[in-house]
Amino acid sequence: MCGIIGYSGRRQAAPILIDSLGRLEYRGYDSAGIAIFNNNTVEVYKDKGRIADLEKALPDISGTVGIGHTRWATHGRPNKVNAHPHTSGNIAVAHNGIIENYQQLREKLTQLGYIFVSETDTEVLAHLINYYYKNNLTDAVVPALKDIKGSYAIAVLCGSELVAARKDSPLVIGIGENENFIASDIPAILKYTRKMIFLEDMEIASLTPDSVLFFDSNKRQIEKQINIIDWDMEAAEKSGYEHFMLKEIHEQPRALHETFAGRISELEGTITFDSLDLTEDQIKDISRINVIACGTSLNAGLLGKYLFEQFAGIHVDVEIASEFRYVHSSPGSLVIVISQSGETADTLAALREAKSYGCKTLAITNVMGSTITREVDNVIYTRSGPEIGVAATKTFISQLGVIYLLALLFGKIKGKISSDQMKRMLVSLKQIPAQITRILGNKEFIEIYAQIFSNANDSFFIGRTFNYPIALEGALKLKEISYIHAEGYAAGELKHGPLALITKNTPVIAIATRGITYDKMVNNIKEVKAREAPVLAIADEKDIEIEKYVDGVVKVPSTEDIISPILSTVVVQLLSYYTAKARNCTIDQPRNLAKSVTVE
Ligand code: G6P
Repeated sequence: MCGIIGYSGRRQAAPILIDSLGRLEYRGYDSAGIAIFNNNTVEVYKDKGRIADLEKALPDISGTVGIGHTRWATHGRPNKVNAHPHTSGNIAVAHNGIIENYQQLREKLTQLGYIFVSETDTEVLAHLINYYYKNNLTDAVVPALKDIKGSYAIAVLCGSELVAARKDSPLVIGIGENENFIASDIPAILKYTRKMIFLEDMEIASLTPDSVLFFDSNKRQIEKQINIIDWDMEAAEKSGYEHFMLKEIHEQPRALHETFAGRISELEGTITFDSLDLTEDQIKDISRINVIACGTSLNAGLLGKYLFEQFAGIHVDVEIASEFRYVHSSPGSLVIVISQSGETADTLAALREAKSYGCKTLAITNVMGSTITREVDNVIYTRSGPEIGVAATKTFISQLGVIYLLALLFGKIKGKISSDQMKRMLVSLKQIPAQITRILGNKEFIEIYAQIFSNANDSFFIGRTFNYPIALEGALKLKEISYIHAEGYAAGELKHGPLALITKNTPVIAIATRGITYDKMVNNIKEVKAREAPVLAIADEKDIEIEKYVDGVVKVPSTEDIISPILSTVVVQLLSYYTAKARNCTIDQPRNLAKSVTVE
């Protein structure tokens, strides 16, 4: 997500911090800052915009200990005051992750006299550590971390003391000669050292130029092992994965975890979106939704149609953004635009069109401060972190996460789902990140099937009901990165045309997780098998029937039927990835495609 760097040594810290932050530039960011201990004070320099501009604006500062940060906004707009590090007295904090209970902590600390200047969740950490600080930074960080809920990787500076800690967000300690480093990502410090120690959840490190001490969450000292990293810079940027796409597929459990963070209480059966400016009465009045999007976001919207109709009984029309202006919408409908970049020209034009009809608008996007977020009435951020591979993966998963929550919330307010149903769904959703991790653990199995696909010229992805949008997404992924012609079809529609194309040379992926259409899906599988198509099924792990009808099965963990599309998505992503890899395609930069399409 954001980038963190820390330095304690004998050299000047500022040039090292700036250089290391620059090595994280490829990941994208909206603001940057550093804090240096100089002349008995902690001095902070930060601003919106590029690291090069920050560097130019730096005065001549000396100091051999400091921290730095590149920010990708999640709480609060991208601007100077929201940029990190955040300070409280002589304490400066750089933070990645999300503090879920920051509102409560902010109120408590305000009552204690602390003054907040930013809109960020991070600032509570600076004040909280200040509140506990007596004469040792680690002693203050330990209780502060016990007070917070959420995810964090932090670098904290107080005088010449430098401390790091993590939970659910990566952080590594670099061991040098007479100098030590903190980094959120290995490439940031690879130029300075190859000796790295990976912090685990709830661990804390205290750094000086000559030593690094490691502690557990109760400040018991622990021993850690040094790893020698032999990656080159390019491999390090991808965390050792061969492509950004594969890295980002592996980041999905964390991305989804962040999407849900602070928004779900499965015990109480509640969902909260801080940024949603719709009253319960307004939500009760929604009888129609238009979802507008392009590409992968469109497929997320299509799944949204099933979810809003099923959970909330709201009629949904899903519109391709570039076609929206030719279909008129009524002013009474809620228009939801979905765009990972927040910049897609067609989506933006459709949003403006919808506003001109007087519709209320809501955006689901990943990029804070993007054009769409500035023009829409409401925004819900997906919080996936920067995505570099052109083919959207983790942003899609997070879009789905938001849409499930939104549809459930609307359903609850409209009285269409009970508290028990709500709790059951939320418990299942909370388990999805861990279930995705299980699928990723079996990816070699999917790679074997991809070899079969790699020789095909044409292929079909089929599914019914809420699996149909994932069939579309699977086909889109395969064609965009492997250049194999792929069609996503509602399985029931095969007999109305495409069956004519099915032969032993057209592999079919059948998304056949359990659900009310399972038996019909099995019939569709038999239809294509009768035409000798090789069939790979995606099925529930408890399904022992399906093997009889298909050539191969990838099993996904059991969950609620209606939630299973999130898990099937990971399988079609991996299948597309490994197929493209077998064909030696330029996976992260597919031909003719762009990450953000800003022309109509
Ligand atoms: C491009 C990208 C796709 C993306 C689509 C919509 O075509 O290559 O991955 O799904 O734009 O982008 P958006 O940013 O609006 O989600």
